[in-house]
Amino acid sequence: MNVTSVVQAVYLLAAVLFILSLAGLSKQETARRGVLLGMGGMVLALAATVGLALERSERPVAVTAALIVLVLVVGAAVGTWRARTVEMTQMPELIALLHSFVGLAAVLVGYGSFLTDAAAGATDTVHLVEVFVGVLVGAVTFTGSVVAFLKLSARIRSAPLTLPGRNWLNLGMVLVSVLLGWWFARAATGGLLPLLLMTVVALALGWHLVAAIGGGDMPVVVSMLNSYSGWAAAAAGFMLGNDLLIITGALVGSSGAILSYLMCKAMNRSFVSVILGGFGTGDATAGGDPSAVGPQGEHRETTAPAVAALLTAARSVVIVPGYGMAVAKAQYPVADLAARLGDRGVRVRFGIHPVAGRLPGHMNVLLAEARVPYDVVEGMDEINGDLPATDVVLVIGANDTVNPAAQDDPSSPIAGMPVLEVWKAADVVVFKRSMATGYAGVQNPLFFRENTQMLFGDAKDQVEAILREL
Ligand code: TAP
Repeated sequence: MNVTSVVQAVYLLAAVLFILSLAGLSKQETARRGVLLGMGGMVLALAATVGLALERSERPVAVTAALIVLVLVVGAAVGTWRARTVEMTQMPELIALLHSFVGLAAVLVGYGSFLTDAAAGATDTVHLVEVFVGVLVGAVTFTGSVVAFLKLSARIRSAPLTLPGRNWLNLGMVLVSVLLGWWFARAATGGLLPLLLMTVVALALGWHLVAAIGGGDMPVVVSMLNSYSGWAAAAAGFMLGNDLLIITGALVGSSGAILSYLMCKAMNRSFVSVILGGFGTGDATAGGDPSAVGPQGEHRETTAPAVAALLTAARSVVIVPGYGMAVAKAQYPVADLAARLGDRGVRVRFGIHPVAGRLPGHMNVLLAEARVPYDVVEGMDEINGDLPATDVVLVIGANDTVNPAAQDDPSSPIAGMPVLEVWKAADVVVFKRSMATGYAGVQNPLFFRENTQMLFGDAKDQVEAILREL
């Protein structure tokens, strides 16, 4: 048995672990196991790849080993530091930045592979196509992810860039890339110029594609770029002849595509209209403007003691968390509040919108962190039917996901997005700091309904105040 066949066997095992990891991640109860299986698969994959690199090393093995250890230490140190310091609310921008690395890696692998082949005079057309497609997908992923990172971290405005004839511009860039691909395949080892030209066009395409997409659609864009980064990794796998990279890339590519589809469904947006851009003029991080367009009216304010009294008299309570709960880090007192009410015989459940917060599963992660039992955490479809029979709904830092305009106002930018119908409960208390809008930048008529009361202030402080009253 030689090193290559051992490596192939280990790759197969790692691929199985990655598939089991994805299966585990699909349910909250098994998510921890899923992460551990994925980590196990990655350790095996890295060990096998390092073994193979040492076996095939053309320079002294010690030099190759030292280089690998060096990059592993640098990568692990930066990765550990970022993972330990990143705030939950900054996760989407970190993920976008990481996707850009995958794209850049695919571009570099493509150039490395092409230049090596060109020097050796190798002209395999299939391999040339792999290089071309790999660099194309990698370059689009790279600049697309950089723009997504800049928008999500508020380094540039998140409003969509709507150039005249932007769809034609995109189509034109795709056509030019196809023509350059034809030139590249014919020129074979002399094809550096068309490859360079295509790279410039693909970088511009990635930049423009994501620049044209507005704040409201950013979550879908991040998961779409996740998918692109998977295909870029798979393309790198083809170029390097690495089966595991092809499998892993395909798993990431397809799971990202499925997630994008599910998110589009949750926001009632067609995938094509998201890709074509121009929607979602909201500013992702500005927090919204209180004077934004939309129905205005009289709102009623309440106090923590009054809410405590309301909860004491209630028999069923639904808590609807949103992005503001994450900002305020209110999940711990909210979990205490749910437990305290439960001890008093009140039926307490959580209603989670699929795109509440800023990343898929954001609220579920926060509630799990605060040890809220899974069986009281329900999805939008499960809880909506029960809301008319609910005494009190506590909306904690949620806004767009509970906006009735999505159903009532066809001209609203979020028209058609499924929402939690909290206004059907007997009483609604909204925890937020001001009358500012949410992520999509649209006013929320819920705040002006007769059965709604506003509890202004930081969500954590207010929930703690209610706990003291109870
Ligand atoms: P949002 O509509 O973003 O509203 C959050 C609200 O929380 C704001 O109106 C804000 O009002 C309030 N808030 C902020 N900090 C607070 C604090 N410390 N204490 C109390 N309240 C605070 O939230 P949502 O309902 O969760 O909706 C999510 C939105 O984000 C959707 O539009 C969705 O499409 C989008 N999005 C989702 C994702 C994913 S995948 N989940 C990713 C990116 C974007 P004040 O400023 O008045 O306090």
